[in-house]
Amino acid sequence: MAKIHVTNRDGEETEIEAEVGLSVMEIIRDNGFDELLALCGGSCSCATCHVYVDDEWLGKLDSMEADENELLETSDHREANSRLSCQIEMHDGLDGLRVTIAPGD
Ligand code: FES
Repeated sequence: MAKIHVTNRDGEETEIEAEVGLSVMEIIRDNGFDELLALCGGSCSCATCHVYVDDEWLGKLDSMEADENELLETSDHREANSRLSCQIEMHDGLDGLRVTIAPGD
């Protein structure tokens, strides 16, 4: 099983199992990180699944669609490595991915 590393808002990093085919949002949420609200359930309309992706992994992700980009623009905490975790689908090439849960808006 692939793994990802998730850092919460207190700076604590946890390694969790990551089922291929799920979104990174679903993987984080289903592992009990209740600070990742994911209010819209993954339909790219809330931005409460905002994460920062470690730089070494950014280039391995599919590029962002326009709606993800527009939604991230509404966040006060957008950074160059911001992504919406519901828009990142887990696959074997992302084994070891590192993300940090962004502050809430
Ligand atoms: S869960 Fe709402 S945009 Fe990702």
